[in-house]
Amino acid sequence: MDSFLIKGGTPLHGTVAVSGAKNAVLPIMAATLLTSEPCVIRRVPNLSDVRFMAQILTWLGAEVSMKEGTVRVQARKIRGAGDYDLVRKMRGSICIMGPLLGRLKKAMVSLPGGCVIGARPINLHLKGFEALGAKVVIEAGYVQATAKRLVGSAMFLGGRSGSTVLGTANVMMAAVLAEGVTVIESAACEPEVVDLATFLNAMGARITGAGSPTMTITGVKELHGAEHEVIPDRIEAATYAIAAVATNGDVTIRGARPDHIHAILDKLKGAGARIDCTSDGLQVRRNGKLKPVDITTLPYSGFPTDAQAQMMALMTLTPGISIITERIFESRFMHVSELTRLGADIEIEGPSAIIKGGKPLSGAPVMASDLRASAALVIAGMAAKGTTQVNRVYHIDRGYENIDGKLRQLGARIERIEES
Ligand code: EPU
Repeated sequence: MDSFLIKGGTPLHGTVAVSGAKNAVLPIMAATLLTSEPCVIRRVPNLSDVRFMAQILTWLGAEVSMKEGTVRVQARKIRGAGDYDLVRKMRGSICIMGPLLGRLKKAMVSLPGGCVIGARPINLHLKGFEALGAKVVIEAGYVQATAKRLVGSAMFLGGRSGSTVLGTANVMMAAVLAEGVTVIESAACEPEVVDLATFLNAMGARITGAGSPTMTITGVKELHGAEHEVIPDRIEAATYAIAAVATNGDVTIRGARPDHIHAILDKLKGAGARIDCTSDGLQVRRNGKLKPVDITTLPYSGFPTDAQAQMMALMTLTPGISIITERIFESRFMHVSELTRLGADIEIEGPSAIIKGGKPLSGAPVMASDLRASAALVIAGMAAKGTTQVNRVYHIDRGYENIDGKLRQLGARIERIEES
């Protein structure tokens, strides 16, 4: 397993370009299953999760090619069941269920389990499929949805923590080929959901209200092929912005969409950052001393859970007490014990982490536990004195395209140690 060796203490300087959004491209790739015609997706990041989704589509019978940021898919004839182990390996692959159900009126995939960031139920996905008239059965580790016909209906998809991103995506993808009108209340408003709706509409779907909590989908008989360019990854942009502030650098982030990261930019400014919009992105640096801030993660347009760990790394460097409350995934604090190894002072109380920041961090060997936790450790390592070894960086390769290369380009002393 590869690891990163980071020699800390060098401020990041220069320009970095944001790749396409992982969490937009995964459901968009799944949506290509809705038509037998060819689809072309551009600005696709070269990530292990994306290659994985390509494998799943291939397994289902689609022809898939990936070259230089462009993915072409043609799903002439497909089967309705995902391979048990393939689907189980990546939680995001649950979003093949909606398109399979929409096109074939049957879908069978392995039931995704929980993961290190918390229990990850799919009850809301299933509630939506049932509202469209599907019969859902869970048996032998599989979840199976079947329907003679799908019929649009009004449904409420809010859960314990608010809306569900992939649940909204899944139900949308089934509803585009249902008869009549579907109205999803408490729909997820994330930019990735809007991007999926844009692609589906380009394929001939009739979706309005994407980006708002009420989404209306008027079913059509069939969809056709389409071309689409994926939105830039807002979490990747935020990660480089936080890293710029943490290392006391000055970084221009090309392709960053400030309108997708209002909550993060607001907190970063509160934490002592200066942020200027450029013609095609953002310039981020410190604006005087770091200041503590309190954060609660929420569905969009609130502060995203996917930037929580990275922000915590910054707070460990900030004199004073900062509090992070995690409202989306209850166990998403795996990075805390590893940040502590670098000298951070963090206490967990229920859903909150209390960070007593300002003590200098010093390098140590640490273990990446999930994608965003790994990004937090890389940020902390770059700000720490001495050498930090981040082990198990395959987690980071799932969601950040060439992060070590991009950071080196900004002057970071980060090296990938490849293990055979
Ligand atoms: N939830 C339910 N029932 C459901 C579905 C979700 O109770 O049927 C709950 C979850 O337990 C959680 C909350 O609703 O408390 C939100 O979960 P959501 O369904 O929105 O998460 P997701 O769609 O499975 C996507 C991203 C995650 C990101 C979350 C939240 C993809 C592939 N994944 O997951 O991304 O954290 O939305 O924004 O789009 C990451 O990129 O690191 C990552 C984990």
